[in-house]
Amino acid sequence: MESRHAQRKNEHLSLAAKYYNQVHHHYFDQVRLIHDSLPELSTDDVDLHVQLADNLTIENPFYIEAMTGGSAQALKINRQLAQLAHKHHLPMATGSLSIINKDPQAYASFDVIREENPDGIIFANLSANATLEQAQEAISLLHANALELHINAAQELIMPEGDRDFNWLDNIQYLVSELNIPVIVKEVGFGMSKTTIAKLQTHDVHLINVSGRGGTNFAAIENRRNHDLNFESLLDWGQTTPESLLEAHSIRRGKTEIIASGGIISPLDVIKAGVLGARAVGVAGYFLNILQQDGYEQLDQTLNEWKIIIKRLLALLGCVSFTELSRVEYVLGTDLLSYARQRHLR
Ligand SMILES: Cc1cc2nc3c(=O)[nH]c(=O)nc-3n(C[C@H](O)[C@H](O)[C@H](O)COP(=O)(O)O)c2cc1C
Repeated sequence: MESRHAQRKNEHLSLAAKYYNQVHHHYFDQVRLIHDSLPELSTDDVDLHVQLADNLTIENPFYIEAMTGGSAQALKINRQLAQLAHKHHLPMATGSLSIINKDPQAYASFDVIREENPDGIIFANLSANATLEQAQEAISLLHANALELHINAAQELIMPEGDRDFNWLDNIQYLVSELNIPVIVKEVGFGMSKTTIAKLQTHDVHLINVSGRGGTNFAAIENRRNHDLNFESLLDWGQTTPESLLEAHSIRRGKTEIIASGGIISPLDVIKAGVLGARAVGVAGYFLNILQQDGYEQLDQTLNEWKIIIKRLLALLGCVSFTELSRVEYVLGTDLLSYARQRHLR
């Protein structure tokens, strides 16, 4: 019999699959790239490496975003994802390791990620209220290359057993100052505003994953798990990923690097996120859905295709690197343009 923490992880996996099939909006359609018929380079000129921090360079601009850990089912999924991350040289973020403090049996489901991918890039994932000891333990368990801290107030408030205390900034700043690996602060699918990003910047966070609305919907997932309160009115809460990237675009970057995730379902979405200023792109629900519905071989093939297509799209746009995408021209659809104007982002 698994612990109730492990059961929650299993519910997340099954509900994520259920609601992923009900996603109808594709917000990246609101971004159209301008074609240049004279790229003047060859695909051989394109280099997919991206430097995210002094000691963090990734071989591909997209990666497997934080999902699971803590149950037998999570162990199986993490093993498969880690094998594919290893094979395709993709970074992989773990699900939240907060569970290992409550349920020691959870260790194995995280351990397997490093076991299957001994020399790959792994991001450990914890809640923003993690203690320094918890962060150090998670990093050493995985020999992690970076630590993701998730900020998920909307999810926690809808979750029946969720946290109700969201004083995170000072703790985040403390962890950033004490840890000797890069720290990424990420949302979980509700997006970020320029106010959020500015607050993170003033608390010394330089890697920010806006993780916006448009894919996995934790309002829907937690509302389904909540049998006492109905949060249906929050199903559209938060900024979409393109909106969040425009928010990020509008503020002074300094040394801040922006990462995108949330509703990424194609190589073109990865490219569009890069055009809107993302340095790298995380994908969770879409890859999980392929793995759970169509199996390991299909995800293997998809990851291979994405790498090839992203390289060709960079060549088509005349860019030798992912970072160069920020100079590609684009136009916005009516809804996104209206959002940008009302928020004074353009
Ligand atoms: C089953 C599942 C579990 C998740 N668990 C975590 C988690 O533990 N920590 C975290 O930071 N994000 C978690 N996420 C959120 C993703 O990392 C990502 O921010 C979000 O799903 C948006 O990306 P997507 O639309 O590609 O799924 C989870 C996502 C899924 C699908």
